[in-house]
Amino acid sequence: MKKHTITAALPYANGPLHLGHLAGAYLPADIYARFLRLQGKDVVFVCGSDEHGAAITIRAKKEGRSPQEIIDKYHELNKETFEKLGISFDIYHRTSEALHHKTAQDFFLKLLENGGEFDEKETEQYYDEDFKQFLADRYITGTCPKCGHEEAYGDQCEKCGSALSPTDLINPRSSMSGKTPILKPTTHWYFKLEKHGDELREWIETGKINGIQHHNPEGWRKHVLGQCLSWLDGGLQPRAITRDLDWGIPVPVNGAEGKVLYVWFDAPIGYISATKKWAEDNHKNWEDYWKGEDVELIHFIGKDNIVFHCIVFPAMLKAHGEFALPVNVPANQFLNLEGRKFSKSKGWVIEQHQYLIDFADFPNKEDALRYALIRTMPENKDGDFKWDEFVALHDNELADNLGNFFNRVLSFIQKYCDGKAPAFDANISIKGATEDELSSYNSFCKEQILPLVEQLEKDILAFEFKNAISTVLEISRLGNAMFQSNAPWKTAKENPESAEIPAVLALGLQIAAVSAICIEPFLPFIAAKMRGLLGLKDSAAGVFEHLKIKLKAGAPILEQGNAINEPEVLFAKIQNKKDNRWMELVDREKNSLAELMKKFEAEEKAVLAANEQKAKAESQQTSKEAVEYDDFAKLELRVGTVESAERIPKKDRLLKLSVNLGSEIRTIVSGIAEHYAPEDLVGKQVCIVANLKPRKLGGYESQGMILTAETPEGKLFLVQPEEKVENGSVVK
Ligand code: MF3
Ligand code: ZN
Repeated sequence: MKKHTITAALPYANGPLHLGHLAGAYLPADIYARFLRLQGKDVVFVCGSDEHGAAITIRAKKEGRSPQEIIDKYHELNKETFEKLGISFDIYHRTSEALHHKTAQDFFLKLLENGGEFDEKETEQYYDEDFKQFLADRYITGTCPKCGHEEAYGDQCEKCGSALSPTDLINPRSSMSGKTPILKPTTHWYFKLEKHGDELREWIETGKINGIQHHNPEGWRKHVLGQCLSWLDGGLQPRAITRDLDWGIPVPVNGAEGKVLYVWFDAPIGYISATKKWAEDNHKNWEDYWKGEDVELIHFIGKDNIVFHCIVFPAMLKAHGEFALPVNVPANQFLNLEGRKFSKSKGWVIEQHQYLIDFADFPNKEDALRYALIRTMPENKDGDFKWDEFVALHDNELADNLGNFFNRVLSFIQKYCDGKAPAFDANISIKGATEDELSSYNSFCKEQILPLVEQLEKDILAFEFKNAISTVLEISRLGNAMFQSNAPWKTAKENPESAEIPAVLALGLQIAAVSAICIEPFLPFIAAKMRGLLGLKDSAAGVFEHLKIKLKAGAPILEQGNAINEPEVLFAKIQNKKDNRWMELVDREKNSLAELMKKFEAEEKAVLAANEQKAKAESQQTSKEAVEYDDFAKLELRVGTVESAERIPKKDRLLKLSVNLGSEIRTIVSGIAEHYAPEDLVGKQVCIVANLKPRKLGGYESQGMILTAETPEGKLFLVQPEEKVENGSVVK
């Protein structure tokens, strides 16, 4: 049987995660894993903490704690929060575990043993003399050579997004001592990525491995393929996979003291060690999930991790020789918050655990959040989480559609069927979603419900989770429409003994059971509640396949006579005049973001104004080169009087002037129309550059230039002699 290995990016254990992470990787992975389990597939869904690298040591330094304290704290917090949100990892492992260290070291040694995969090279790297330490890329800041941003990191400029290496930075500084680091020789292992370039290209472009079809690349997201190809086109380079650091997995080679594996080398191997640990605990063989042709490996990640999962890790797996490559890497784009990028440092963030605290009393807080995030999931373009939308989606879709339908089914069953699942009757005709469409129970199941269920399956397997959840909501919408056109409450009044009533309710119950099963991968908490109310057994492996068989046969999912519970409100609306509690919670969130936004806008305005001032000031300083007197003396500056002035049609900035220089009248075209009206100029004395080569301006030959003074705001004033002087007087 095929083995499905589903991974979600191992988050750094250096802080709490926010909603962007959830929507980016963990929620889609969870939906997929849960669905495959419902299909009865053999699944392992792994994740865990990424506990090495500079991300951790920097955090530790900031908090004044040891790296170990940091990872212990955030590992627990993140693990617990994922659990509370219903992310159904089979294991949440840690890369600080001995099992992982050993797995990563063995992986390294295997590549070493295979030969030809590594280069051992001495290069010069930045070293902080005060701290006697080589500097991780993240510990070096400097000016980005691409955009001039002064706080770029040694591995990346966060302003323009360019990938950098520390020696690219202009004016590098150590973030430990703040001083300029020196370059010092050190030896490292480089993974020869370029050696695998051709194979990687074949795999990415055609889905073939060594000529054999592995997967269909049509099923890969365009933006993922695009990024991969641009990396391949750019040419692959050897990558250093070791570092001089005291935090990480020691390089298992004699003479490599003080060196550790680079975090991006060990972290993806964390997926393997997590699987090992899970297999150990569950009497499985981990290799079944990583090696051989029956493995279907899928990585769920955010777009910033694409190159590691589509190029580097696959090359490592290939170089090792025994591992399967991923079948798909459905990376998501980014989620924004109310139109702006999430930023922890600026406070523009909703952290997962904080949301759970803030909304502690709100029923279904987990599913309400999951729903809003799925509906705005950044699958192919960036998404936006907005509180107003959170409310609208909850109230208008979950409460008004799904909740309402479910509630109707249960109350009708109580009212008209003594709280028991009625018998379905294949011979009674039931109106469909529209009144004129006549159907029987069987054909309704086969022709109306089944196609939606199949569509749902298709959507999920294509990683189209947004579409998938809309399809589920279509099922309850269909149920509501079916009730509307049959109106069993009317029949009950007119003809209470009619066989149509139990028939319609049996169908309603069927649709409710289908929704309860289909909503499970998305909203597991409410699904459990729905199952409980219907008296459906626990969601067991394979239940989805079972459901399709029943629908194909037109057979009921719930046995006749099953006790059905009294209705319960599934979703209490947030916008509720009688009970304002939930809206108050939302308003509090909105207000705090609005406050922040005001602050940002003020700051941004101040920065803008300061920049403008600076630019103006710079343009006013004698920033020009010094000139010899002789050069200055080449200019002939004279005073003249404006005799006439007129606008030039269609040239808003220009005026055409006649200036009397005593011995002659000059035509001068000047860009002062926005500062002086023509009539104000007539009779005024001006200074002009008299020996400027004539040039065409606004369609006229301008025989000179008027001197003006420009203020920092860009206003122009004429330069004039203090008293009236004779026309033609020389200015010197
Ligand atoms: N810790 C990394 C991040 O948060 C992701 C690591 S994914 C893995 O960006 F493949 F390395 F595990
Ligand atoms: Zn930059």
